[in-house]
Amino acid sequence: MSLLTELYEQIALCHKCEISRARTTVVPGEGAEDADIMFIGEAPGWHEDQQGRPFVGPAGQFLDQLLASINLNRKQVYIANVIKCRPTGNRDPLPSEITNCQPWLDKQIEIIQPRMIVTLGRYSMARYFPGKTISKIHGTALKKDGIIYFAMYHPAAALHQQSLRQTIEADMNKIPALLVESDTVKETAPQPQQLNMFEVQ
Ligand code: URA
Repeated sequence: MSLLTELYEQIALCHKCEISRARTTVVPGEGAEDADIMFIGEAPGWHEDQQGRPFVGPAGQFLDQLLASINLNRKQVYIANVIKCRPTGNRDPLPSEITNCQPWLDKQIEIIQPRMIVTLGRYSMARYFPGKTISKIHGTALKKDGIIYFAMYHPAAALHQQSLRQTIEADMNKIPALLVESDTVKETAPQPQQLNMFEVQ
């Protein structure tokens, strides 16, 4: 059994939060165990809760198109969420839910060891770009402990606000170059409260 499959079995037994009682299926994440790129969204929605797979609704269809635009598919990357159960009525995740679920996400990152983590939306952004706003830092990256962190708007944002579609597409297009560039970008010793940041364009 793979390390991820073993982890999924443990996640399925987790009932730390109330929302776990209402879920149809837990949505741990999916993709390649050795993926270079890991995408982290927010939380499962209705479609994901039904299928037990991340990003399979309308936002997921856009994510698939974005991946295809850089010649990737979901089997070549890893896709996860900050929390693994659907919040009731698709409300925002609670801070306690994010805290409870964090060890699962940490373990996924530890197993996959991605070269790049792409945050989709503000909940995953908040962890790696604390205190920043998505409108200011989308399309920018920072490197810490050898991992590139890249912030993007959530794909669902384009469904609500059509004008963001091109922005999201343009940000996605930066990813291949960033991965190549990552080998040449030197990481300086992190300053207290400050990470080595480089901006793409
Ligand atoms: N939105 C998310 O953040 N994650 C999903 O899996 C689906 C929609």
